[in-house]
Amino acid sequence: MRPARSALAIIPAAVSVLPAALVTAALAAVPPPSLCAGSVPTRTRLGMVVSQNGIASQVGIEVMMNGGNAVDAAVAAAFALAVVHPAAGNIGGGGFLLVRSARGTAAVYDFREAAPAAATPKMFFVAGAYDPERHHRSHLSVGVPGTVGGLQLAWRDCGQLPWKEVLQPAIGLARDGFMVSEGLARSLRAVLPQLKRSPAALAQFTHNGEPYEMGDVLKQPDLARTLERIADKGAREFYGGETAELIVKEMRAGGGLITLEDLRRYQVYRRPPLRGSYRGYEVLTAPPPSAGGVTLLQCLNVLEDLDVSAMGVGSARYVHYVSEALRRAFADRARYLGDPDQVKDMPVERLISKAYAAELRQSIRDDRASVSSPERFDRPKESAETTHLSAVDADRTAVSLTYTLEDSYGSKIVVPGAGFLLNNEMGDFNAGPGLTDVTGLVGTAPNLAGPGKRMLSSMTPTIVVKEGKPLLVLGSPGAQTIPSTVLLTLLNVVDFGMNAQEAVDQPRFFHRWLPDGIQVERHGFSADTVQALVARGHKVIENESQGVVEAILVNAKDQMLEGGCDRRAPDGAAIGR
Ligand code: DON
Repeated sequence: MRPARSALAIIPAAVSVLPAALVTAALAAVPPPSLCAGSVPTRTRLGMVVSQNGIASQVGIEVMMNGGNAVDAAVAAAFALAVVHPAAGNIGGGGFLLVRSARGTAAVYDFREAAPAAATPKMFFVAGAYDPERHHRSHLSVGVPGTVGGLQLAWRDCGQLPWKEVLQPAIGLARDGFMVSEGLARSLRAVLPQLKRSPAALAQFTHNGEPYEMGDVLKQPDLARTLERIADKGAREFYGGETAELIVKEMRAGGGLITLEDLRRYQVYRRPPLRGSYRGYEVLTAPPPSAGGVTLLQCLNVLEDLDVSAMGVGSARYVHYVSEALRRAFADRARYLGDPDQVKDMPVERLISKAYAAELRQSIRDDRASVSSPERFDRPKESAETTHLSAVDADRTAVSLTYTLEDSYGSKIVVPGAGFLLNNEMGDFNAGPGLTDVTGLVGTAPNLAGPGKRMLSSMTPTIVVKEGKPLLVLGSPGAQTIPSTVLLTLLNVVDFGMNAQEAVDQPRFFHRWLPDGIQVERHGFSADTVQALVARGHKVIENESQGVVEAILVNAKDQMLEGGCDRRAPDGAAIGR
């Protein structure tokens, strides 16, 4: 199936006179205390933003307090994250924004990066051999960024405040600086060796080569000027103005493929969300080119006829059934999914149908694990950093936004003079034709690189609706673990009746077909549970932490907003009004 979509060119922003600055310097400088403190969720009535950074959440809420809706808040918070959470917040990457209006209409803004026109299926080969450096850590790994176009289009369709006003907090944070948290200091220190290949990255994220310490003020003047140009002239500046020229200059200097024409041609797509149902709840999620929504709906359909709540959260039987559902969905992903505009006949409708789920379920034995076969299916690669934010306003317009640079700090290349990191999203394409083996290389056709093609994603921004009202807004980073993280959090609410914070806190696990094994969070599952899984034939692998969910639950009893902020990451906050 080829899902319907409408292409929208980048449209210049409405230019308006700025009213008083939205966010004060004091607010901009100091992160608010983490509001992810207890197992009781943050509760508010009029609006909430939950993100991986407290400053960004606060920016979003300030925007709502100044008359903005959830889309204004999400867009402002996303631009703020590009400043205060540089590992994943970005203007040089891409993602998916799902919005559901108070009237019930919904759309997904697909601002996934696109391959440049010169991309080919074998572009990651050198002298006939696949080169992972080229694929994941070179100028060739950079896709045409989508974030600026995507945020502007979502704002243009749904926002209420002037464009400049929405960008102003991020500009202030970049220009005047903000206080480096312990988490950011740790993350910048860890990435420092890899920043050394990009002098502009080194200049931006270190003090003359020395790592920033907690409490230092990080100013990013080049980024501030880029954001100002975008505020003045809109996304057209990014895709055709000085910023575009700076990107192309860096591409030429480093052997990348992106040209001015690639940037000018980039389009954001407004697509219908993928829709499914689970126990009477409606589930809206991301369609291809993300595989995340398909995986989520496939698993929910498989689990729907089972008495999940009777299994008990975290029990061996529960982990077994969820893992078997994931195993099958990931096998289908490798076989069928890619860019819907370039891959013919993707069977999405069938994959997410209840009838197909019944077939899958019949193939699951209660007492035995299935076996994944590397001969038939491909093992996808894992990566490290993305970020999610959820926003709901007083009218109950809901936004679920996941965006990324792919790896932590993306390609680690900062565009000189423009002050932002470029993604390495081309790494989400398969390695090359025929390159499928047990070491993890993937060579299936649907997700091979090609001109203008969007690489397959796992991002799963999701909104669950009950009786016409939003119930749960959520998403997560974590590459191929994302669909399972979203699935488990949703099950925690629907099947186990948890509140937003409990649902986020609950230990996680995932299965992704190959390598064949269940990866569980360390200390998350009892030895008895692991033993019972092993007895069924599962390999159980201990993992550090999985995902960073930022969720908002609308309490069905009193309609209060409840934030679930993930303490697996250091700086997040659920902030409401
Ligand atoms: O689009 C994707 O699925 C990946 N590029 C996302 C990367 C990611 O989530 C890494 N995060 N922890």
